[in-house]
Amino acid sequence: MRVLFVCLGNICRSPTAEAVMRDLIEREGLAGEIEIDSAGTGDWHVGKSSDPRAIRAAATRGYEMTSRARQVSTADFEDFDLIVAMDRSNRDDLVALAGGDESKVRLLRSYAGDPDPDVPDPYFGGEDGFEEVLDILERNCELLLAEIRPPE
Ligand code: 4NP
Repeated sequence: MRVLFVCLGNICRSPTAEAVMRDLIEREGLAGEIEIDSAGTGDWHVGKSSDPRAIRAAATRGYEMTSRARQVSTADFEDFDLIVAMDRSNRDDLVALAGGDESKVRLLRSYAGDPDPDVPDPYFGGEDGFEEVLDILERNCELLLAEIRPPE
């Protein structure tokens, strides 16, 4: 099973989701069965490490972020079984890239059924935004794993 998390820049939300999900999978002993990656719909930060504020906030909760930004491509729809969008704008861009095929694309917050469907973009805000993103990701990634977990 391969899961790709996607946001706009691939330097704040989706690399944080990647780190949170990888940590969960390793703790559950599923590292050999579920592979995780992240990408952005935009190309501004390609090759760059994640936003230092995201790295710092994640580190205080024990997550290590080593991801380098890359842009999502049509090949990702072949390579991944599930593509998880951080907000509705990312979701719409992904479905357009897939020629209208919605079958592999899910919104991250649909797993917990949160009333707000979007993970708020913390890029232009303060440090609090990164804590809120982590809270949302921790809650939803746990439920995402429950859905995709292979049978024992
Ligand atoms: P992300 O945040 O999509 O969570 O990585 C952003 C990062 C950069 C920009 C926007 C959002 N930007 O406009 O450069």
